[in-house]
Amino acid sequence: MFLGTTPHIISQFVLRELRNLKPEVVRVPFSGNFIFETLAAQVPEVKRIICTDVSLYSSAIGWYLTDTHGQITISEEIKNDYPGMKIETPEDIAAMVIFLQDLSVHYSKPGITYYERMLAHAKANWPAYIEKIREKLRKCKAEFQGKKIDFRSQDANVMLREVEKGDVVLYDPPTIFHGYEKLYKWLHQNVGWSAPYYSDIVEETRWDHFKMFDERGAVCYYRNNNPCAMPEGWPLVYRYKHTEKSEYCIYTNNRNVKPWVGKREKLRTKDPGLKLLGVGDEITAESKVQVVQVKNQYANHYRVLWVKKADMVDIGKAWLVLIDGKMTGVLMISSGQQFSNEFAMLVSDPATPTSRYKRLSKLMLFLVSTQEMLNMVNDEFLWEHTGVTTSVTSEHPESMKYRGVFQLHKRTENKVPGGYKYTLIYHSQEILPTFKDGLKRWLDKFGNQVK
Ligand SMILES: C[S@@+](CC[C@H](N)C(=O)[O-])C[C@H]1O[C@@H](n2cnc3c(N)ncnc32)[C@H](O)[C@@H]1O
Repeated sequence: MFLGTTPHIISQFVLRELRNLKPEVVRVPFSGNFIFETLAAQVPEVKRIICTDVSLYSSAIGWYLTDTHGQITISEEIKNDYPGMKIETPEDIAAMVIFLQDLSVHYSKPGITYYERMLAHAKANWPAYIEKIREKLRKCKAEFQGKKIDFRSQDANVMLREVEKGDVVLYDPPTIFHGYEKLYKWLHQNVGWSAPYYSDIVEETRWDHFKMFDERGAVCYYRNNNPCAMPEGWPLVYRYKHTEKSEYCIYTNNRNVKPWVGKREKLRTKDPGLKLLGVGDEITAESKVQVVQVKNQYANHYRVLWVKKADMVDIGKAWLVLIDGKMTGVLMISSGQQFSNEFAMLVSDPATPTSRYKRLSKLMLFLVSTQEMLNMVNDEFLWEHTGVTTSVTSEHPESMKYRGVFQLHKRTENKVPGGYKYTLIYHSQEILPTFKDGLKRWLDKFGNQVK
């Protein structure tokens, strides 16, 4: 929902399982961003969703979803930095905590220009940030309409003692111990609340839980990154290799699960019915450039048509590029926020092959390397990106597409047999102010290269 911790590809599997099992009670001991709870809410037979988490962040969201008035206090620093910030209703509290959690890392790094700039931006524009978070919160709450959700700001061990036969437990424990405290130190120093006691969920704790689920007749799905040792009767039923070295894994004690093969799903596509830039269309310095945010399925329609790649992924947000009203290219971008990174990640950037121009794909790169684009991306993700990065696999040590526009930042030679020889990381070279500037730069450098 907010930080997107459970990837969509895992959610699809979990939702399929819940729809098959039709449980009355779903327990989520580690709520995080409430992704599993949102899935359970989609299953008509689920009557109760019982969930816990011990972090202030999840608790604030949990209180909001359950209309509970959590008790918090805020420091003078927050009062000074955000004069008039409300903390009266559960929605006020949730929005504020989410906002401050995002900023926590910036506050913790004084003296680093990048973080200081982001903080200054947030301080100057905080009401807009908060309003956007409120909208997301309301959208999330609407998904629980008519469902009984019971959230407790409590150690998972306590709630799990109540597990009963037939319950489904969606078990996604933390992978860093006490790391959350370090990560959000500033937040915890500035927002007071009565934090619950909690224990580290180590291997031994997990095994105790698994044993208890078996004994009580509860069905559990345990999500882990990469395969791990498990008790007998807990097969690996879901395996999805998302990078060279890591896999999403799910183990379960449900004997009737069809294993998920981890094959990537066909992309969802929809034709927006736009006219494509054709051979007769000339691009000039006076051409009108429009970059319009759309649902990913519209962008995927063009990606599937234009990109020859077996494993296209549907991540990030999509924008279509129109020149003089004609469909010209796609920009799919995801945020660097999850890596606390100032670079927006360019996931996909194809241009139409129907035009007269040989180097039209470089126009996409010039347009994405503009402040005008970054402003839209930053507004969308509520994170300040100052540049763009992309990763390419290639048989060659350089990519012709990015050369001359982006800068080669890192080259890794791959040793995997049958795979591409190189992984190349590129960074944007220069951020031009506007789309018009990007267009002009492309016209000067590549506009005369026609087919
Ligand atoms: C991996 S995240 C869960 C992510 C979640 N499935 C989602 O999709 O957003 C783990 C969560 O466990 C919480 N946590 C850590 N120790 C806990 C404990 N002993 N009891 C309850 N929650 C705990 C952390 O605050 C964190 O939000």
